Amino acid sequence: MILSIESSCDDSAIAITEIETKKLLFHKKISQELEHSVYGGVVPELAARLHAEALPKILQECQPYFKDLKAVAVTTTPGLSVTLVEGVTMAKAVSIALDIPIIGVNHLVGHIYSLFIEKESHFPLTVLLVSGGHTQVMEVKSFKDIKTVAKSMDDSFGESFDKVAKMMNLGYPGGPVIETLAKGGDRKRYNFTVPLFQSPLIAFSYSGLKNSVRLAIESANEEDYKDVAASFEHIATAHIIQKLKKYFKTTPPKTFAIVGGASANLYLRSSIEELLKPHGAGLLLSELQYCSDNAAMIGRVAVEMYKENLFDDLDNLKVCPKSPI
Ligand code: KG4
Ligand code: ZN
Repeated sequence: MILSIESSCDDSAIAITEIETKKLLFHKKISQELEHSVYGGVVPELAARLHAEALPKILQECQPYFKDLKAVAVTTTPGLSVTLVEGVTMAKAVSIALDIPIIGVNHLVGHIYSLFIEKESHFPLTVLLVSGGHTQVMEVKSFKDIKTVAKSMDDSFGESFDKVAKMMNLGYPGGPVIETLAKGGDRKRYNFTVPLFQSPLIAFSYSGLKNSVRLAIESANEEDYKDVAASFEHIATAHIIQKLKKYFKTTPPKTFAIVGGASANLYLRSSIEELLKPHGAGLLLSELQYCSDNAAMIGRVAVEMYKENLFDDLDNLKVCPKSPI
């Protein structure tokens, strides 16, 4: 079995995965959403302190599995340095105490493998990662062969939902609350510009849209918020669809996947389903409980790495806020 730890942002999570069967034997996540909600976003130092409280509590519950552990895995990149360190410190302690190897896992690879929790993996895949930190398209052949073909030049898709919610005083995270608000709204009422519409670049940008939404909110009444939310969600999604359409012209998809916390968004899901239809491409999605950050996905990647003896040196295992992918 492998014990895996995730602490890259505001979720403290630990999982136990059986190596041979990929069965998830244990998974617990303590989310800090409530604590950060009053600030309208994640406060890194507060998040680190909450990880320091939550992770040992969860680890204690894993004690019955300690004798069967063959490795410990932990998210090392990308994320908030101060929160990543909490997980890595714990993983090092477990590695030393139980005398088992340590495996550093990239959180983005984790999101890709959230598709394959308790399942066999299959590639190649074109993957759209939409989370609080990333809006990224990747061509994936294996956990070692990942090519990023488009990414955001500034804010991410999920982050823009968080910021719009903050402007409307709706708390954090903004994704689910804006999606719910948008359901009753008029998607065409506010004519926001689709970001990078004229640009030949296959890339994403959300800072301009965020500012247009800010101006709309400033001159809106609260009863207009649902229309602002609906128009914003429509354009935020249209931006992804326009760039994917462009990308598919040169690289038609065979199997497409959407991963990351914001992949829970039903408007985005259905828009991508429509886009894939003429290509006859399949769509893979993670189970809803594994879209957002979790330790099961980290354990699932670690199973692949364990099989190839991809262990890290305890003294050289460091955290890295920016992903090399
Ligand atoms: O993957 P995740 O849990 O954490 C990161 O790795 O960033 O993603 C969290 C992000 C937040 O920005 C949250 O607002 C967004 O995903 N999100 C959504 C939805 N559910 C979560 N964004 C849009 N629509 C949703 N339904
Ligand atoms: Zn994530």
